[in-house]
Amino acid sequence: MIMDRVSDANSLVELLGDWTTAGGPLYRKLAGAVARGIEAGDLPAGERLPSERDLARLLTVSRATVVAAYDELRGRGLVDSVRGSGTRVSARPRGAGARAVAVQPRAARMISLAMAIEPAAPELAEAYRDLADGELADLMADVGYHPRGYPPLRAAVATHYTEMGLPTDRDQVLITTGAQQVLGLVAQLYLRPGRVVVVESPSWPACLDVFRAAGARVVGVPLDEEGVRADRLAAAFAEERPALAYLMPTFHNPTGRLMSMARRRRVAELAARFNVPVLEDNAYSGVQALAPPPPVGAFARGNAEVLTVGSMAKSVWGGLRIGWVRGPVAITERLARYKIRADLGSSVLDQALAARLLPRLDEITAARATVLRARLNHLRALLTAQLPTWRWQSPDGGSALWVTLPDTNAQIFAQVAARHGVEVVPGSTTDPSGHHDNYLRLPFTFPTDTLTELVRRLATAWADLQRHGPVTETSPVV
Ligand SMILES: Cc1ncc(COP(=O)(O)O)c(C=O)c1O
Repeated sequence: MIMDRVSDANSLVELLGDWTTAGGPLYRKLAGAVARGIEAGDLPAGERLPSERDLARLLTVSRATVVAAYDELRGRGLVDSVRGSGTRVSARPRGAGARAVAVQPRAARMISLAMAIEPAAPELAEAYRDLADGELADLMADVGYHPRGYPPLRAAVATHYTEMGLPTDRDQVLITTGAQQVLGLVAQLYLRPGRVVVVESPSWPACLDVFRAAGARVVGVPLDEEGVRADRLAAAFAEERPALAYLMPTFHNPTGRLMSMARRRRVAELAARFNVPVLEDNAYSGVQALAPPPPVGAFARGNAEVLTVGSMAKSVWGGLRIGWVRGPVAITERLARYKIRADLGSSVLDQALAARLLPRLDEITAARATVLRARLNHLRALLTAQLPTWRWQSPDGGSALWVTLPDTNAQIFAQVAARHGVEVVPGSTTDPSGHHDNYLRLPFTFPTDTLTELVRRLATAWADLQRHGPVTETSPVV
């Protein structure tokens, strides 16, 4: 019965549910979700799993992610693959033994390029101790519910923007659970099925997921050296009449480009002229010690509606889960209503830490930038020596290199790389129309010894691909 239910890929997708929400690399989250299905008995011994290609298509992930996930499940002894008969749930007994195998991490074996993140900045531990020694008692005497945000943090964000040239009142600030939550709230406010969102192309895969989940049609606009191309943005605004434009002016993910001051002014003008709300996501702001121009919001005039998003994740720690959005009071108030409905407000303890750290952001950023610059230089030297045909532009900031592979589809390379212990995210996942398929994003957030091992693996995989072509491909990847 169950075998019939899950033997087609659609049923497995249903069974996996919302598998992307856990932490960690994508392939491991997928492997974890399948492992849970096996443990729960929903996927019985002998059950044939969908082909890598079918599952990748249905989950809108790269095939390399599914290859790596199946690899991981094989490593845990949960599935077996036999050439010609696909991948099946193995016949091993379940229960406590299976569970122990299922949670074994495989971090030592696979290097995932799905996330460009670092451990917490040391200042976080300091702030934690100071908080415990200082205002914690007062804080805990308070009711603890602050749906729009802990007042000292709202004030700190307002000061932060005012100092950056974007005068801000604390009422214009809504604190959220990471920048990610802002995207969800904004999608609820502005998007309906069939409405259009304009994004840069390439863009950030997770934002494409949020907009698509809201039923929106996503339209890409290319970038040049100064950021999103103004002529193409104007054309998209005129032709598509979008409900929203989502841009990353301050260290665009994945290219690391910084939008020029002139381009910011132009984007704000276009927002006013075409009446298109702009969501500027500056989550990477501060990752490089390069003072960026004021946010696009600083150039908004007349009826321009610009929402400015920030986060503690890249400069301090992703685990802090503190982000914010700054915009016209009427809009942040409407977003606050969705926020209340979602979670009644973000953790006040985390916000109290963020409020202590925000005024120190320049100092924290400068220290991070020194480390990141050294890693970037190390990565560049490794690539030049071991992968001399790969090309990239030096990023203005951010945490990754946007690499062009010569005459090679990155999805095909990703399959080979997965077999050499690297989870590659192909460029096509960053593009709403699936282009940029000969690009990949290469984070330089890893320690130098990991970077050395990473490039060694990539170079071996690349040499393999040049010599033999894709290992398992018998037909072109679509
Ligand atoms: C452009 C961009 N915005 C937002 C986020 C998510 O930020 P947060 O961790 O604050 O939710 C990321 C994370 O990678 C990102 O790249």
